[in-house]
Amino acid sequence: MCGIVGYIGPKEKKEILLDGLQELEYRGYDSAGIAIIEGEKLNNYKAIGKLANLREKTKNYTSDGFGISIGHTRWATHGKPTELNAHPHLGAYSYVVHNGIIENYQDLKEELQADGVNFLSQTDTETIVHLFEKFHKDSNQPFPAFQETIGRLEGAYATLLITEASPETIFFAKSGSPMLIGFDGDEVYFASSDTPIIGKATEVYYLEDGEYGYVKDGQVHLYDANGEKSFTKQALTADKVSAQKDGYRFFMEKEIYEQSQIMGDTMIGRVLDDSINFEELDEDFFDEIYAIKICACGTSYHSALASSYLFERIGKMRCDVEIASEFRYKEPFLTDKTLFITISQSGETADTLEALKMAKQAGLKTLSICNVDNSSIVRESDTAILTRAGIEKGVASTKAFATQSMVLWMLALYVGQTKNTISKETIKTEIDAMLHTPKALVVTDKLHAKLTRLSKRYLHGHGFFFIGRDIFFPLALEGALKLKEISYLHAEGYPAGEMKHGPIALADSELFTIALMPKTMLYDKIKSNVEELSARDATILAISPEPFDLADDFIQTKYDSHPMLEFFEMMVVTQLLALEISVRLGNDVDMPRNLAKSVTVE
Ligand code: M6R
Repeated sequence: MCGIVGYIGPKEKKEILLDGLQELEYRGYDSAGIAIIEGEKLNNYKAIGKLANLREKTKNYTSDGFGISIGHTRWATHGKPTELNAHPHLGAYSYVVHNGIIENYQDLKEELQADGVNFLSQTDTETIVHLFEKFHKDSNQPFPAFQETIGRLEGAYATLLITEASPETIFFAKSGSPMLIGFDGDEVYFASSDTPIIGKATEVYYLEDGEYGYVKDGQVHLYDANGEKSFTKQALTADKVSAQKDGYRFFMEKEIYEQSQIMGDTMIGRVLDDSINFEELDEDFFDEIYAIKICACGTSYHSALASSYLFERIGKMRCDVEIASEFRYKEPFLTDKTLFITISQSGETADTLEALKMAKQAGLKTLSICNVDNSSIVRESDTAILTRAGIEKGVASTKAFATQSMVLWMLALYVGQTKNTISKETIKTEIDAMLHTPKALVVTDKLHAKLTRLSKRYLHGHGFFFIGRDIFFPLALEGALKLKEISYLHAEGYPAGEMKHGPIALADSELFTIALMPKTMLYDKIKSNVEELSARDATILAISPEPFDLADDFIQTKYDSHPMLEFFEMMVVTQLLALEISVRLGNDVDMPRNLAKSVTVE
């Protein structure tokens, strides 16, 4: 999804912008651009494709002395990925970058065109710069013109604007899309997440929706609907090294390998000897709660779905799960005494954030499970539990899913524990299993080598069906999502028992079935389902501790004592399978086509 970087200060600006945009590459983009004003000189470069193209275009340019600068990576929403549609967008003497969607841009565009404005791009963003110049022409005062511009925008935006009319100022505004301000003495940075400013800024302020203002002479002037306001910066403590590849070929690969170790971080202080403890939750947090509703998207939705089995089975509490983009428009019937949980790796997913706002408006208690502290979803929720997975850069989410699943498992147990609906023995059994999770997530050389070898047989075919039952059904959905995201092959996740109600019609030798066959859960049931597919000549890759005669390929997992341990072990197998198929197909594993890491538009 689009990324924004801005800088005002004496340092070389081109490198700051390009390095910052590089840190945002993982969000996915199709073009990039920068604009810099130093003294009277204005420079603007854009390129489609990867940042390397923009680097090449700007190789003979360096900026000297004090100046203001903005940069952007674009993920196309309005208009194709072309240079003209790339940001920064130009008026007569001003430039703008923007994340989000201006919903009333068509009306604004028509109004501006009626005034004689000529539009160069097909984007919604271009309206911002022309509106600004129109109001500036009337008042000759840049900030009031910017205020008036913001007042006309409907939809979601994080935006930076620079203008030759005020060549020492950056104007900014945020509503619905993420943006923060970084500080290092008198130097000021802007970014759409903190990765571009790690190692550069020492302090940060995360802008709230409705905030806007300008920076001049090292001073940030911040406003909201009530006028100018003060704000408190916080220390920026994140660590740059953790965001590098550490010798792995891809971030996704590194993140798969990290899962075993980070699970310890997710559990520390929470999984105690004989109980679960969440410092984030007040003792009476669940007192008035009798049901749970979870909203999420993509991979986060899959972890939610898996947890619905656990909340009901272990926590003895009703749990419904919905895809956030569906929830938003269905006029949901929300009852009090329901805890509304949102799950998000990035904490910035627009659909999930909007669902959360709706639940809050309906008066529900809200909890988010998120990987990014200070993200919009965390800030919007009454309470947040962080998954502690560390920065996830691969667009195809892996360790975020693992840690979300773990937190939700702990939370299900916590519900049973606080509501007294489960015995001490059950709590102990679950905790023992939790403590064995890091082991279940270890990637052995043998397993990885086997999947690398096996992947060559799965590069074609007319489709993949990942099948499983119970919690292994959401895992099947997740396995299929991983594969399609990075291999571009068609894959579906399906409840194994449902295949006979239709999809079995597709079965032939070119239909690849990835069968999740845990020994601790409904083994005989799924075995029958797979036998039915095998009888119709489907090619079967079985993942199970139990050897299975009818399998064309077989990955043997360990005989574990608990379904969740089998869940995590099989999760790693499906992640590595997707990775190795993608590598063989020559795809961009970390930045697959058309996808964005953080989906901040509807
Ligand atoms: O940041 P979130 O967890 O809210 O993101 C939700 C989805 O966009 C995300 O899980 C997406 O499906 C990933 N590409 C999955 O690999």
